[in-house]
Amino acid sequence: TAVKSPAKSARRSLPGSPFLVAARGGRPARVPVWFMRQAGRSLPEYRALRAGTKMLAACFDPDLVCEITMQPVRRHGVDAAILFSDIVVPLVAAGVDLDIVAGTGPVVASPIRSAEDVAALPTLDASQVEPVAEAVRLLTSALGDTALIGFAGAPFTLASYLVEGGPSRNHERTKALMYADPTTWHALLDKLADIALTFLRAQLAAGVDAVQLFDSWAGALSLKDYREFVLPHSSKVLAGLADAGVPRIHFGVGTGHLLGAMREAGADVVGVDWRTPLDTAVTRLAAVPGFESGPVVQGNLDPAALFAGDEVVRREVARIISEGRAAQGHVFNLGHGVLPETDPDVLTKVVDLVHGSTR
Ligand code: CP3
Repeated sequence: TAVKSPAKSARRSLPGSPFLVAARGGRPARVPVWFMRQAGRSLPEYRALRAGTKMLAACFDPDLVCEITMQPVRRHGVDAAILFSDIVVPLVAAGVDLDIVAGTGPVVASPIRSAEDVAALPTLDASQVEPVAEAVRLLTSALGDTALIGFAGAPFTLASYLVEGGPSRNHERTKALMYADPTTWHALLDKLADIALTFLRAQLAAGVDAVQLFDSWAGALSLKDYREFVLPHSSKVLAGLADAGVPRIHFGVGTGHLLGAMREAGADVVGVDWRTPLDTAVTRLAAVPGFESGPVVQGNLDPAALFAGDEVVRREVARIISEGRAAQGHVFNLGHGVLPETDPDVLTKVVDLVHGSTR
């Protein structure tokens, strides 16, 4: 596998970043907070800026990516920015015919269902995601001392979109390929691991301060199947980033039963959805052998709880801060992405509550 040279970069040194301190297992003066999908439709300034530009076109426009990424940082005062992009961007850059359809998600013109389809899947060259790298460079100067998180889709979640041809509730075609033709399955996931790795290393070379590997749909698998069919490929991605020395966050939805295995895959920080209490997650993660320090966790606030009013939001924030004390490091976040109808003022309120809390 041809994955290019060290993720060398002019990476900024941000010793005072509470996000980076916590992500490395330290205890910053305040609990850091950012939100998955913080850049996007919950913000009127995002909707205004995106008007007339298709999602994928926006992702390849460095100035637009920079501005959209900055919006939630300015508005909410979060401790980290997440690069505005999408998990399918490296697939599109490599030449896969797919589109992001508003209100639906990624739709693939010719789904991958056979060994021939897998063989025909193109590889990614870093030059093909140069506009993303350029956006990262713009952001590292625009952000000052706020950390920038780069990201990619994990092999399983990317495979689900490619095999199903779009979003899927049951992932039946994906699992059919996985069970019926393991050789083709592993060949597909190996290629997707290389694509994710090339995309992440391009972001690291351009200066991102941390990375998140989104395996959003891995929770659809049993632990046994996750270990056999997914973990080796996610491990390849995470191990391939180790030399960059930045925190590697690994997240999925409905993954309470997979948390230990996701740490084992090489995560420095494990993302937790709202189904598993943060202290339960810490206990499970601490049981994984081979780690010198305790678990670092991120997440857990139910994005739907932000619709339930001030009292519920206060109570949930307090609960999560309290449960997070069981961890070696705690990064406050939602258990999944910000929902489009969320009142952005509630998000700002959460940031203020988290920052005002005492550890
Ligand atoms: O602020 C951020 O978090 C950065 C932006 C970001 C987007 N996609 C922008 C986006 C991130 C981190 C992603 C990752 C992503 N994309 C994931 C993993 C995270 C997760 O939510 O589990 C997944 C599964 C996708 C695939 C995808 N792309 C979906 C499910 C959708 C939503 C479809 C819809 O319209 O409801 C997209 C499109 C997308 N990606 C939008 C945004 C802001 C909406 C498109 C728009 O604004 O027009």
